[in-house]
Amino acid sequence: MQNFVFHNPTLIQFGEGSIGKLSKLLSSESKVLFVYGGGSIKSNGVYDQIKAQLENIDYIEFSGIEANPEYQTALRAIDLGRQHNVNFVLAVGGGSVADACKFIAAAIPYPDEPWDILCGTRVNQAIPVGCVLTLPATGSESNTSAVINRSELKQKKAFSSKFVQPQFAVLDPTVTYTLPKRQLINGVIDPFVHVIEQYLTYPVNAMVQDRFAEGIMKNLIELGPKVFEPNDYPTRANLMWNATQALNGLIGAGVPQDWSTHMIGHELTALYNIDHAATLAIILPRLLTTQKQQKREKLIQYAQRVWDLDLADEELMIEQAIDKTEAFFRSLGMKTRLSEYDVDETAPELVKNALIKNGYLQLGEHQDITPDVAANIVKQSL
Ligand code: NZQ
Ligand code: ZN
Repeated sequence: MQNFVFHNPTLIQFGEGSIGKLSKLLSSESKVLFVYGGGSIKSNGVYDQIKAQLENIDYIEFSGIEANPEYQTALRAIDLGRQHNVNFVLAVGGGSVADACKFIAAAIPYPDEPWDILCGTRVNQAIPVGCVLTLPATGSESNTSAVINRSELKQKKAFSSKFVQPQFAVLDPTVTYTLPKRQLINGVIDPFVHVIEQYLTYPVNAMVQDRFAEGIMKNLIELGPKVFEPNDYPTRANLMWNATQALNGLIGAGVPQDWSTHMIGHELTALYNIDHAATLAIILPRLLTTQKQQKREKLIQYAQRVWDLDLADEELMIEQAIDKTEAFFRSLGMKTRLSEYDVDETAPELVKNALIKNGYLQLGEHQDITPDVAANIVKQSL
């Protein structure tokens, strides 16, 4: 196992009715910027619950954060926050709202162009953030990362800072009852791929991380077909907690990581506006095939422990594990080929150029996924 520091300070308020505890999590001294998305919280009653909790707290609202949150929209929220001297940012929504709020919280006290933050300038301070999660998928509610889309540049960029990790995350599984099927599919696949990218590299004898990772993947495989059941509390509660655990730092501590599926996926979202999880379902099977020699030992472990395969022919077992992964995505109703979207054969070149432009020249646990290798993965994914 590699050396590591693990510190996850996000307080989790979990369970039915937990939004009712929000006012206790906020200080009466707070001047809150309450941020949400396109309106789902108004139609499912979450907005009214939040308003009731903010009754005795000074706050200002900002709505309209898009899926794949837009830089320009965040700039407007930053202006509003500055005008009103807010000292707390409350995110109510999915990963996009959470990510936008992390960026807003870092940008409000930042003296220069906020875009710098997404281009690698170190964040030294931020206004505290809290989150009421309405879509389990990204893990953003209890981690340090955020991803922002700047569509006029066709760029989607991430940053990470301990200062933007939410102080608390309120997780009420009942608020997921109104999620459309498309978002439920995303909610299973995104955390599944988060686990893979922290697990499917090379062995470092990290027993806790490996078994936790395998457990989360097995849980998601089991939950997959059940998540479409309406109002199924046990399933939604387990989905929510699995998604949080998939990217809160625990399974990634002390192990090599490979975020190349995500980095290639972000370029596909920036270029073609394909949902985040949908890009992962397209890229991952081809990436695992391309990298199967480098990932051989972990792929065998994955085949045996996650898919219960037991074949003497290891090559065949690896192929079957990759096929089963893709079949799992498809069984949920997810497309796994770029040609199923409005994408043509120029995609490999466009992704390659975007990776070069963003400086992502050596991805993967061995830094051997160059823009050329990525272009080939995209080509195989057409
Ligand atoms: O905007 P509203 O009207 O609220 O509708 C949203 C949105 O259209 C809707 N929704 C959310 N909760 C709902 C609901 N509809 C009905 N009922 C509810 N309870 O769902 C739509 C999608 O929401 P979004 O927040 O975009 O989805 P998700 O949580 O999948 O977030 C995706 C974003 O997170 C980033 C992705 O790149 C993408 O931009 N990620 C963030 C990560 C992180 N911070 O650690 C890691 C991930 O790998 C990912 O990159
Ligand atoms: Zn993701």
